[in-house]
Amino acid sequence: PHDSSLVIAVDGTSGSGKSSTSRGVAERLGLRYLDTGAMFRAMTWWLLREGIDVRDAAVVAAAAHRPRIESGTDPLAPTITVDGVDVSVEIRSHEVTAAVSPVSAVPEVRARLLQLQREVIGEGGIVVEGRDIGSVVWPQAEVKVYLSAEPDARAERRSAEQGGTDVASTQQSLLERDRIDSGRATAPLTMAEGAVHVDSTHLTLVEVIDRIVGLTGHVAPEA
Ligand code: DC
Repeated sequence: PHDSSLVIAVDGTSGSGKSSTSRGVAERLGLRYLDTGAMFRAMTWWLLREGIDVRDAAVVAAAAHRPRIESGTDPLAPTITVDGVDVSVEIRSHEVTAAVSPVSAVPEVRARLLQLQREVIGEGGIVVEGRDIGSVVWPQAEVKVYLSAEPDARAERRSAEQGGTDVASTQQSLLERDRIDSGRATAPLTMAEGAVHVDSTHLTLVEVIDRIVGLTGHVAPEA
């Protein structure tokens, strides 16, 4: 039993555990789930496929209205499509990961995706993860979480997820994305007003989920 209009915003750095945590919270509370990072990745995947120079902000800005991006919100099976094609796997590629931060810094990209994000959130009943959800996309969210973890922990988790990629280079890439995501002029990663800071470095996934579920004021049912 939950308030179906509830919106839970989960922001934080790359590799802090936002996706697993947000999906777990949504599942536990019977809410929908939206991965806004996947939308930026889908936009980036499409730009690369079109042969657009992702470092040219003016060209990216002019193209940002073209792809039709749709997100499925089932926490057990989230999907993301571009012009009707499922790109859930393609958006996790190294090429997309390397290009997504500069693309995300382009204001026209953010404006376009902001509109889509607000449409999906709609009447609420959703856990939304990203970088600017509590600060820009949905500042009225009932629960706002800023999830962080120390760089070593983030790099180790991410490299394990990726099947054992080099931890040092994974950490370099995470820190480079944090630098761009936190330093951009439009909607940088920041701890939103009213956000609760959860450091997941020394917590298990279930402990992080329990903590966030606890913030909603609902008693967590048996897992
Ligand atoms: O969460 P992720 O690592 O999949 O996000 C990929 C990139 O998308 C991230 O480096 C910055 C960008 N992003 C953003 O700018 N704003 C959001 N709300 C979500 C992601």
